[in-house]
Amino acid sequence: MTAYRDARGDVAILVPAAGLGVRMGGGTPKALRTLCGEPLLVRAIRNVTAAPSVGIVVIAAPPDDVERVRAMVTPSPVRTLVVPGGATRQASVAAALSAVPAEFDLVLVHDAARALAPPALVEAVAARLRAGAEAVVPAMPVADTVKRVGDQDEVVATVDRSVLRAIQTPQGFRRATLAAAHAGAVDDHTDDAGLAEHLGVRVDTVPGDDLAFKITRPFDLVIAEALLASAAITERSRSIDSTEDATTGEG
Ligand code: C5P
Repeated sequence: MTAYRDARGDVAILVPAAGLGVRMGGGTPKALRTLCGEPLLVRAIRNVTAAPSVGIVVIAAPPDDVERVRAMVTPSPVRTLVVPGGATRQASVAAALSAVPAEFDLVLVHDAARALAPPALVEAVAARLRAGAEAVVPAMPVADTVKRVGDQDEVVATVDRSVLRAIQTPQGFRRATLAAAHAGAVDDHTDDAGLAEHLGVRVDTVPGDDLAFKITRPFDLVIAEALLASAAITERSRSIDSTEDATTGEG
């Protein structure tokens, strides 16, 4: 077998979407909250399936909403599986990973909450994996001054922000690396790269994208709706759509 299948469709993307979205309020699982009339999850899936590299999508849904989610994302241009998520993000990713067919060596993990992440970001992460990286994360420079605080929220120190990055998803891994990272997990991490780092795996970065911000609070929903109303984002999502025919029905 060659190292990888055709560059088109050789990536499995896991989408943890089982969070309750407590910070968002409202009682609906966050990924199912609507953005311009459409669930966040549906928007996220549309963007990732527009990336030619994606050959299969595995969604970790809120356990009580598996059938509802399946109906929401059907039909899809790419093979899509829906599994029940777990009690933590990490458990949801592990559940999705266990459903990935054996032929996929490259696995990306992408939060449903980053619903506007453009297809080009998926491609950038996948390309770095194909170029030999074991783990890849999109990274953004930190704009604010960052300070460490103590027990009473008093400032203890100012951190040198030039060496800090804010990390987004999709995060990419060789499948064996991600599986080992999850198998070796001893405590809960907020991202998958953190688990890989724990194993001593080198994690490379690619430039992140403003549109890959995490929609966490009601404020973020307002920003996301404003962005969707602007022409620029439509153009960015379309930039890879022209090659979408190559993925249709494959996987
Ligand atoms: O809670 P947080 O914002 O870190 O969640 C990031 C992503 O992980 C979201 O897309 C959320 O739906 C998902 N998640 C999950 N299972 C959980 C908790 C969070 O799939 N138990």
